[in-house]
Amino acid sequence: MRETLAVIGTGYVGLVSGTCFAEVGNQVTCVDIDEYKIKRLQQAEIPIYEPGLEELVRRNLGEGRLRFTTDLEGAVEQAELVFIAVGTPSLPDGGVDMGQVKAAALRIAPLLGRDKLIVIKSTVPVGTARMLESLLRQHAPQHASFEVVSNPEFLREGSAVRDTFHMDRVVIGSARQKAADRIAKLHEPFAAPVLITDRESAELIKYASNAFLAAKISFINEMANLCDKVGANVESVAEGMGMDHRIGPHFLQAGIGYGGSCFPKDTQAQLRIAENVDYDFKILRSVIEVNRLQRELFAKRIIEALDTPKGSTLAILGLSFKPNTDDVRDAPALDIIRILVEQGVHVHAYDPVALVPAASRLGHQGISYFTDPYEAVAGADAAAVMTEWQQIKRLDLQRLHMLMNRPILLDGRNCFSPAAMAQLGFEYISIGRPSI
Ligand code: UGA
Repeated sequence: MRETLAVIGTGYVGLVSGTCFAEVGNQVTCVDIDEYKIKRLQQAEIPIYEPGLEELVRRNLGEGRLRFTTDLEGAVEQAELVFIAVGTPSLPDGGVDMGQVKAAALRIAPLLGRDKLIVIKSTVPVGTARMLESLLRQHAPQHASFEVVSNPEFLREGSAVRDTFHMDRVVIGSARQKAADRIAKLHEPFAAPVLITDRESAELIKYASNAFLAAKISFINEMANLCDKVGANVESVAEGMGMDHRIGPHFLQAGIGYGGSCFPKDTQAQLRIAENVDYDFKILRSVIEVNRLQRELFAKRIIEALDTPKGSTLAILGLSFKPNTDDVRDAPALDIIRILVEQGVHVHAYDPVALVPAASRLGHQGISYFTDPYEAVAGADAAAVMTEWQQIKRLDLQRLHMLMNRPILLDGRNCFSPAAMAQLGFEYISIGRPSI
């Protein structure tokens, strides 16, 4: 069955899911308050770097299934399903800023007539669906009939389109079976298993999943630190652990920790959710602390490798929080660069797509930006890999060696083989693997 959707918010979640719902035949209107962004989207200009998205937006715009507008009222009036996919940034205390969600709800409320479904896609604290339902009731026309459903999103940046078409599961939290069935039907083309539950559990599944994945990363990073001390190799340890199907091989890549707009924000938010009900979530507190320490530890290793940090030149390879995205929000590279610049290190930063967003956060004091990795390493006293981009993994290492002042490579993402690096004559330091 084709549905008419309004998707409020054209960030990662709203833009990708709205476009994918259009691709499978629904009529979708994406709404944002940012006029410039909407104008660009109407021309199929995508404000984020997301493989495959532009082509999908272009096709669905062309075929008339997808529209972009700032007219929220018009879009909601026409829609049967209204998705809320606005931002839920962190507050200074780690809690969740619900301002945008509430503002959207207050604009939707007067437009509620018969049988609209309000679907919350934004990552929101437990109890939000229930709270929004009463907020909407207060402001909706007297005889309005509607349901509020929770339908969290699990896509990853950089593979968001692929993740949507190959989703592991659809989670639907609803107080009524009929509403849940309708959202399940909407997802049928994606052929994924569906879990229908109560709204609070659905809201918590999202946080629990991100917290658990973050815990896997912090766990393997602590294992890497232990490997360094006992002379073991974390890659072999992870491989051996991953062969147990109860553990699984994924998300056991040791490195300089997780970043991005999700894990750091959502782990903090879940900690706050627990604190609010007087529960001390000890594991989660440690996961967050280990992630912070992992960045500091790598910065320390870089400083040790540079004999005299003040006045040294260091090439940084990779700035985004992971490959295939220009997102530098809470990227480990940025924190590490800040520590190094404070020590008087001059940084030559390279990234295939994230130079502009990184420069707008880091500024130019002590940092030069390069679009060519070889120019970034030329004359450097050491180089440090922060993101495992293919462009970095495929560098001509012999050329790198020749260009550098001193051939020291610190690899924060274990991109290269220690034996190959030794053969090339590098001093090579990686994470949880014997240094050469
Ligand atoms: C994450 C989740 O994976 C998605 O399921 C979720 O929907 C999304 O957050 C969200 O809440 O919106 P994302 O932040 O895009 O997605 O990125 P991931 O691919 O999960 O990577 C997160 C960070 O963990 C990156 O910095 C990555 O380098 C790091 N990581 C990942 C590791 O250090 N080791 C690993 O083994 C895996």
